[in-house]
Amino acid sequence: DDFEGEGVWRYADALPFDSGVSIQEGATPLYEVPRLEDEIGVEALRIKHEGMNPTGSFKDRGMTVGVRVAAELGVGRLACASTGNTSAALAAYGSRGGMQTLVLLPAGKVAAGKIAQASLHGARILEVDGNFDACLDIVQELAGQGEAYLLNSLNPFRLEGQKTIGLEILEGFLADYDAVPDRIVLPVGNAGNTSALYKAFRELVQAGAIDERDVPKLTGVQAEGAAPMVEAIENGADEVRRWEDVETRATAIRIGNPVNAPKALPGIRETGGTAVAVSDAEITEAQRDIAAEGIGVEPASAASVAGLRKLRAEGIVADDERVACLTTGHLLKDPDAAAAAGVDSESVPADTQGVLEHLQE
Ligand code: F0G
Repeated sequence: DDFEGEGVWRYADALPFDSGVSIQEGATPLYEVPRLEDEIGVEALRIKHEGMNPTGSFKDRGMTVGVRVAAELGVGRLACASTGNTSAALAAYGSRGGMQTLVLLPAGKVAAGKIAQASLHGARILEVDGNFDACLDIVQELAGQGEAYLLNSLNPFRLEGQKTIGLEILEGFLADYDAVPDRIVLPVGNAGNTSALYKAFRELVQAGAIDERDVPKLTGVQAEGAAPMVEAIENGADEVRRWEDVETRATAIRIGNPVNAPKALPGIRETGGTAVAVSDAEITEAQRDIAAEGIGVEPASAASVAGLRKLRAEGIVADDERVACLTTGHLLKDPDAAAAAGVDSESVPADTQGVLEHLQE
């Protein structure tokens, strides 16, 4: 079953093929979060949880298209650099397509769940003594020398698949509010999603499906320790300066050289959006608050809500806005971060009386 017409492939008209190498990706929930909506103080807040994809992140939407292209080309080996999620998705979709996969990861900086996925799905895993940006430099050179087919978000077919995030958000808001969202807030690493959503909305405007003025304001959030896009937006710069030293507990977005910036900067500017940086403490707080609504996300994902909260407090987001926050990856991707942010467990004796006494302490 190639899941033609389902999930991502429901939008085949907007994609280069009718079907892909599929594990039933897309059609993720658009959760109501009433307590967060009240506390942050906006007209409407929804969480589009991309952690509910087959491998637990939005990357699946891009891989179903990108790996189909690779199959079409008959390439021998697929490769990516990754902060973790891309490698997990590539390993799974490569396996499904019967292809070999090679992933380059920054040593010691990838969350446990993601490496476990890449490993079990049978990727060849190279741990590089350098950060993600160095890994991407290397894999681009390998691809240029014909050693592998590149499946990072520099690959335009990946972004075609990721457009469907924007299409699903718009459909969901139209169904529930009879209007598209005023703003979409999303974490930014390589700015692939920012570029993909902007492309989706431009295509809708060109097709006459929505009015130019109704395009949601694309609002990017980065961690303070890895915020080159925010720097460029704040300075009104045309180019993004590469940060050599990056650090954040949100390892998924520990990126200093956002390769899709040339496409994403116009997306943020022309939609009237903005970009904001948040601290690791703000990210952890948001991760707890999202979890208190029953939704488990990884740290990078929580950056979206942390950024919205900050922009609302600064008055940049108005109280009458309808907002979608994109949460890009599942809580189980980074069990160590979840355990560190959550409550500690308690040791008790192995008898009911002892447990009762402990509960009464
Ligand atoms: N959130 C998560 C959970 C991610 O894994 C990533 C990127 C992003 C946000 C940033 O998205 O690049 O479209 O701006 N992860 C890549 C990876 C780099 O290798 O898994 P972007």
